[in-house]
Amino acid sequence: MQSLRALTLLAVLAFTVLALTLRVSAQDSLMAAAQAQFEPIPATPPALPGNTATPAKVELGTMLYFDPRLSASHAISCSTCHNVGLGGGDAQETSIGHRWQRGGRNAPTVLNAIFNTAQFWDGRAKDLEEQAGGPLVNPVEMASPPEHVVEQLIAIPGYVAAFKAAFPDESQPVRLANAQKAIAVFEATLITPDAPFDRYLRGDGSALNSDQKQGLRLFMDKGCSACHSGINLGGSMYSPFGVIENPGAELLPPGDKGRFSVTKTVSDEYVFKVPTLRNIALTAPYFHSGRSWDLRQAAAVMGSSQLGEWLSADETEKIVQFLESLTGEQPKILHPIMPPSVAATPRPEQ
Ligand code: HEC
Ligand code: HEC
Repeated sequence: MQSLRALTLLAVLAFTVLALTLRVSAQDSLMAAAQAQFEPIPATPPALPGNTATPAKVELGTMLYFDPRLSASHAISCSTCHNVGLGGGDAQETSIGHRWQRGGRNAPTVLNAIFNTAQFWDGRAKDLEEQAGGPLVNPVEMASPPEHVVEQLIAIPGYVAAFKAAFPDESQPVRLANAQKAIAVFEATLITPDAPFDRYLRGDGSALNSDQKQGLRLFMDKGCSACHSGINLGGSMYSPFGVIENPGAELLPPGDKGRFSVTKTVSDEYVFKVPTLRNIALTAPYFHSGRSWDLRQAAAVMGSSQLGEWLSADETEKIVQFLESLTGEQPKILHPIMPPSVAATPRPEQ
């Protein structure tokens, strides 16, 4: 009797140990699988090739980013559409630009944009420096011709000094190309390290709760990570929106053919850059059309349109819980004091 009880106890113990070991190794293998596909955001901004980040240059870039006088109306700055207090976006379906015009696409976040391999929904700019030239001159955004930008900056004495400090070796430092360099250096500081998922990738198994771990498992097993991978869980490749099933004109308006406008290749019709999912819980509305205001809907649509997977409500919920673990520490930017205009500074367009 005694020995039978001892034996039962032993069997129960052995089983418990086995079950625990299996669970631990399942957890370890989930972490190892995640570490193989994703990378944590570093604590400090990465260096930009050929564009050294000096304190003077970052300071200039910060001023330019926030300065509405770079626009024709003197009312719109980069920060109007990429508000660092709103996850780096503007919480609009599509942005409002010059003379209240609506652009055709949703403003993507600038947070961690430095880690994207190309910029814009269609990848038409290769990096942040090239990208920064676009909105200044875009007639529906800031509507400021390049010569106007330079004319404006040269007529603000504080900017002449700030460009000189940022580009000390140049005799004519106030140039559009230098403004783009300074803005890019500032944008490289807009990174969001230390999200719960980053802590998990660094080996802290308790950084994600059990639902988030199940969500991560689903995210990888269902195939989301085939496109949303790497450091930004996106930003590194292109894909049609509607690989398996067309998401419908409501979410994918037929007028915007995406990357086709850049390459003119038929197979690039409705192809878009896979967007980053970092801080995705902060940046509704979703998709290049900005037509989805609900992360649960966006995740479910991805399942059907990209993977042919009709996710259950429970699966969608867990994936969304995981996506919420991608919210990192938001950059704390001190709003810059910009140099004042003087009597000779060009006035806003009436
Ligand atoms: C009127 C709103 C508006 C203004 C002003 C604006 N942007 Fe944008 N920005 C957008 C929109 C919309 C897109 C996407 C356009 C597209 O893909 O065709 C975008 C794209 C970007 C991207 C690409 C991000 C990615 O993941 O592809 C970056 C970076 C960016 N803007 C930075 C800036 C900077 C720097 C400025 C100031 C010089 C600026 N923007 C001014 C609306 C704006
Ligand atoms: C075949 C590649 C691919 C797969 C697989 C994929 N996505 Fe996407 N995802 C994209 C592309 C491309 C977009 C941008 C679509 C657009 O707006 O044109 C996107 C957009 C998104 C967005 C909106 C992001 C934003 O900033 O607007 C979310 C959220 C998202 N995907 C989550 C998921 C989830 C969750 C899965 C798995 C169920 C998944 N994706 C699978 C390519 C993919």
